[in-house]
Amino acid sequence: MATRYTKVAITLHWLIAALIIGQLIGGKVMMALDGSALKFELFQLHKSFGIIILLLSVARLIWRLTHKAPPLPDHMPSHERLAAKISHIGFYGLMIGIPMAGWAMVSAAPVTITTKIFKVIKWPDLPFIERSEGLHKFFENAHEMMSTLIIVLLIIHIGAALKHHFKDKDDVMTRMVPRLRPRR
Ligand code: HEM
Ligand code: HEM
Repeated sequence: MATRYTKVAITLHWLIAALIIGQLIGGKVMMALDGSALKFELFQLHKSFGIIILLLSVARLIWRLTHKAPPLPDHMPSHERLAAKISHIGFYGLMIGIPMAGWAMVSAAPVTITTKIFKVIKWPDLPFIERSEGLHKFFENAHEMMSTLIIVLLIIHIGAALKHHFKDKDDVMTRMVPRLRPRR
């Protein structure tokens, strides 16, 4: 049985990770700006990258549901296996939930600002969402709360990966990082 993730899994993992980290930083930066042409441009860019992340994450989830992950090391206790499983499910939920909440937020906004992906492709609003300030606020809060949650999960995730590599010296980190070898 394979001992590391496949090229497809590794490529999708690192591409989506880089895009989400950039998106989290970009989201905070654009919110800190005063109303200006730059802010408007950054909002459009944020929505464009957000939709790309949504599409890639759905593709990744479908790929993951149809492929097996490599087995975890034998020494891993059952509570760690459970924690890994829960956190990975949490990630997939947030990778799709955050951009969906963003899309719902702009769809519910009382003022329509058409989303144009990279200024080229017109992206529709969700048709079944009514425009109201209450719903807009609800999805805005959900979008922000889930973004905070993914930051917390990411810190735990990186901590766990480093623990496996430097303390347990197993292959959990190396199977997701091309060219890295276990430290034993
Ligand atoms: C994984 C993808 C995404 C991430 C990680 C993300 C993250 C963020 C973050 C961190 C903020 C700042 C929140 C705050 O501090 O108040 C933000 C704001 C925002 N995001 Fe996203 N976002 C994503 C996708 C999307 C998508 C797909 C859309 C819409 C199509 C969107 C629309 C917005 C809007 C309109 C705001 C401004 C909210 C406001 O005015 O209060 N985002 N996003
Ligand atoms: C927002 C950024 C990230 C997200 C959303 C994310 C998400 C995920 C998900 C969902 C998995 C499980 C893969 C599967 O079996 O389906 C995973 C595995 C993994 N991630 Fe990340 N990740 C992110 C960033 C990082 C970073 C920065 C590191 C570096 C330390 C990292 C290291 C790993 C490793 C080593 C695994 C393999 C764990 C295992 O085999 O069980 N990830 N990641």
